[in-house]
Amino acid sequence: MIGIDAMKANVVKPTAPGGAPTACGADGHRERAGSAHPADGGEKKAADRRQLRSRLDRIGHTVVVLSGKGGVGKSTMAVNIAMALKMAGKRVGLLDVDIHGPSIPTMLGLEGKTLEEGQDGVCPVDLDGMRVMSLGFLLQSPDEAVIWRGPRKMGTIKQFLKDVAWGDLDYLIIDSPPGTGDEPLSVCQLIGQLDGAVVVTTPQKVAAVDVRKSITFCRRLQVPVLGVVENMSGFVCPKCGEITAILGSGGGRRMAGDMGVPFLGTIPIDPNIAEACDSGRAFVARYAETSTATLMQRIIEPIAALSGAGVSATMANNRKKNLP
Ligand SMILES: Nc1ncnc2c1ncn2[C@@H]1O[C@H](COP(=O)(O)OP(=O)(O)OP(=O)(O)O)[C@@H](O)[C@H]1O
Ligand SMILES: [Mg+2]
Ligand SMILES: [Zn+2]
Repeated sequence: MIGIDAMKANVVKPTAPGGAPTACGADGHRERAGSAHPADGGEKKAADRRQLRSRLDRIGHTVVVLSGKGGVGKSTMAVNIAMALKMAGKRVGLLDVDIHGPSIPTMLGLEGKTLEEGQDGVCPVDLDGMRVMSLGFLLQSPDEAVIWRGPRKMGTIKQFLKDVAWGDLDYLIIDSPPGTGDEPLSVCQLIGQLDGAVVVTTPQKVAAVDVRKSITFCRRLQVPVLGVVENMSGFVCPKCGEITAILGSGGGRRMAGDMGVPFLGTIPIDPNIAEACDSGRAFVARYAETSTATLMQRIIEPIAALSGAGVSATMANNRKKNLP
C-alpha cells in the first residue's frame, strides 16, 4: 500500500514506514483491503481511477468552500459547516486542500497530529468521529513553506481523495485556498460531480467583485453554487451584543441577486469566532448558545438539507453501480 510515504515523498524526504497497519478511526472502523498497483502505467492509471471512484462512491455529498479573496473566512466557514453537520448527527470528513497555508489543523486544535497507515490507506485524523485531512499533517514544521507547481498540487490532492481511508461519509467538506487556481480546479476535476460550492465574501465592494469570479468558475465547471455567505458583516459588540455595520453590508446579498445564486446569510465579526479559531475549537460547538452560532446554523440549513433520507440509499446505489 502506497500511502503516507507516497504523500510524504511529495512534501518531504520519505521516512521509514512506521509499525504495522492498524484499523482506522477511534471507533475501530475497518476498511476493505486495497488493491496492489500494477507496474504498467496505463493499468495503474485505470486502477487509480477505480480506487478514486470507489472512495467517492462512499461519500454522500461533497461541498467545496471557495472565495476569490484571501482571509474572508473560508476556513472558518468550512470548519463550522463540518462541525454543525457533525452536531446534526452526520458522518463528516473535512479536507483541507490549501497547500500553501493549511489552517485547518490549527483551527481544530490538531497541530502536531501525524498520520497513520491503515489497512486501506492513510487514516485521516479523527476528531470525535470527524475525519480530517490536511497537508499540515505531513509537514515537519508549521513554518515550512511549500513551493509547488500545479501538477504536483493536483497529485497531492488526488492522493488526499484516493489514498485516504475516508470510509462511509454523509459529507466531505473541502476548504480551498483563495482564488480559482489549481486547488479548486483539481478538486472539481477529480471529484467530477460536486454537490455544490459555498462562496464566502465580505462586505467590501472589492471582495464582492472578486467573488464573482468564483461563481463564474463554478458555472464553467458545472458545480452548483449552493450560495453566498457574507462574512464579517458588521461587528458584534462584546458588551451589549449590538451589531454595527463597520464595513457596510448588503454587498453579498446584492451580488448573489445579480449573479442569480442563493444568498445564504451574513455572519458578523464576532470576537468569539476569532477566539474559537485561535483556541482550536469550532465556534458552533464552543459558542453554540450565541446568536452568531444561530446565524451560522441557518447558513448550514441548505447544506444539511442536501442529506435527508436519500443519503444512504444514494450511497448504496452508487456502490451497487460501481462494484465489479
Ligand atoms: N466572522 C468572524 N468574526 C471574527 N473573526 C473571524 C470571522 N471570520 C473569520 N475570522 C477570523 O479571520 C481570520 C481569517 O479567517 P480564515 O482563516 O477562515 O480565512 P480564509 O478565507 O480561510 O483565509 P485564507 O484565504 O488565508 O485561507 C481567522 O483568524 C478567523 O478567526
Ligand atoms: Mg483558509
Ligand atoms: Zn455595545
